[in-house]
Amino acid sequence: MYYGEKVHLRALELEDLDVVMENWNNLEMRQFLATAWPMSKNIERKWLERVTTMDPWKDGGMVLAIEDKKTKKFLGSTSFFDISKQNQRAEFGIAIHNPENFGRGYGTDAVRLMLWVGFHILGLNSIFLVTLDTNVRAQHAYEKAGFKRAGLYRQATYMMGKFHDFVVMDAIREDFLKQYPPGTQVSGP
Ligand SMILES: CC(C)(COP(=O)(O)OP(=O)(O)OC[C@H]1O[C@@H](n2cnc3c(N)ncnc32)[C@H](O)[C@@H]1OP(=O)(O)O)[C@@H](O)C(=O)NCCC(=O)NCCS
Repeated sequence: MYYGEKVHLRALELEDLDVVMENWNNLEMRQFLATAWPMSKNIERKWLERVTTMDPWKDGGMVLAIEDKKTKKFLGSTSFFDISKQNQRAEFGIAIHNPENFGRGYGTDAVRLMLWVGFHILGLNSIFLVTLDTNVRAQHAYEKAGFKRAGLYRQATYMMGKFHDFVVMDAIREDFLKQYPPGTQVSGP
């Protein structure tokens, strides 16, 4: 539905459950997310049932599947959550599930596409995220896609035996539209 150079974004489907379960409980990936304990198929089914019926404005969230543009293989998911209509603002999240697919440019492309969706489709004004201080790969990808470092929440999260700072990053509409003005898209089919 939305096309980047390496990935496209489409609606998540209930049928994605099996492919989600393939890598979701991999600690190499999950150590960078808020929860790092095993999730059952039942929990993931309920999560899919919830997010596949979400309306961004009524439910404050939107989750899309990331697929390899060439092979159509499922790579992970990306989301807006806590969408605020009043402030035209949302928080952003992403996970490429299989560590074998890290560092291949998929993430940067998907983040850029989501910024395009946020600013061009949802009409947001500000998009922000938090990421672990140790997640340097994510910070690189976010910066290349258009996020800027905004600050730190000190010792905000506990992961792998210690408290970590959260790096806060944000992107605003006026900056993104300089690169992608109305009428432009990131890429085509
Ligand atoms: C974070 C994530 C979305 C990034 O996507 P990706 O496809 O792996 O990243 P990209 O290949 O697009 O870009 C990563 C950049 O960081 C660099 N990089 C890769 N591994 C790195 C590492 N271990 N340390 C530092 N930099 C690294 C890459 O070289 C690349 O920069 P470059 O293109 O200038 O060379 C993905 O790795 C992921 O989902 N990780 C697990 C879950 C996660 O961390 N989610 C985000 C939580 S906030």
